[in-house]
Amino acid sequence: MHVVKKVADVRELRAGAGGTWGLVPTMGFLHSGHLSLVDRARIDNDHVGVSIFVNPTQFGPSEDLAAYPRDLDRDLELLEGAGADLVWVPDEGEVYPPDYQTYVVVEGVAKPLEGAARPGHFRGVATVVAKLFNVFLPDRAYFGQKDAQQAGGIRQMARDLNFPVEVVVCPIIREPDGLAMSSRNVYLTPEQRAAAPVLNRALNAARSVWADGERDGEHLRQAMRRVLDAEPLAQTEYLSAANPLTLEELGLASGSVLLSMAVRIGRARLIDNLLLEEA
Ligand code: PAJ
Repeated sequence: MHVVKKVADVRELRAGAGGTWGLVPTMGFLHSGHLSLVDRARIDNDHVGVSIFVNPTQFGPSEDLAAYPRDLDRDLELLEGAGADLVWVPDEGEVYPPDYQTYVVVEGVAKPLEGAARPGHFRGVATVVAKLFNVFLPDRAYFGQKDAQQAGGIRQMARDLNFPVEVVVCPIIREPDGLAMSSRNVYLTPEQRAAAPVLNRALNAARSVWADGERDGEHLRQAMRRVLDAEPLAQTEYLSAANPLTLEELGLASGSVLLSMAVRIGRARLIDNLLLEEA
């Protein structure tokens, strides 16, 4: 496994190894969710590249950039075990030199939900992912359904800007009690950690009324709200039952529905989602 800092070194290693490349972009502090993307990339491609970069442009001024958890030695050990071929750990100064001036903005699908709650967030994500695509030139790039809106925005960007990259979205990996794995789960105290599966329980409550035939988006949102409101440590930021492609909130659903939410528990801002598909 090659671990490199410089863009030029990524390009050289990429060009020297023929065959197909899968890319897994990450911000590090890896868990089984990240590693599931590497596993999938390994299966689909001859070579797997991974980036580890806590991207400052996707954090708001009052967000957790400085506190974001980091453990590069452990990450590299995990990636070695998972069979990554090339890991790029860039310096911030090379990704965003002092005269940096160019950003990528996805409209439509990036506007509601996370886009509304975190102004500028997706601009930072789309920009860094566009740069990663241009540095690695991957055949395929792997993203988690955990960040469903992010995956949709990147797919849109790849299509709109003609990146010759197949965007592959992989399932959410959860802890045994249902909490979606996230680098940010380390912010939770034991008491908050015990409360955190409430997000998954709320999604399952809506899935259960959906299974009974409920198709009114408002009723699906209410089913989630009832569960979240019963947990005193959880502060709901938004709850959504939306068209999975456009992310527009649904009145009466006529097809699949993406349920999603952002919930604060202590200093952690947790997101989770569930896709309800017509049988
Ligand atoms: P990060 O939060 O490190 O996540 C990297 C990738 O892992 C994302 O595609 C994310 O959706 C996926 N992932 C995270 N938790 C997961 C889980 N429990 N199950 C499955 N996949 C999971 O998302 C980012 O970094 C950044 O925004 C990035 C795309 C790297 C751009 O900076």
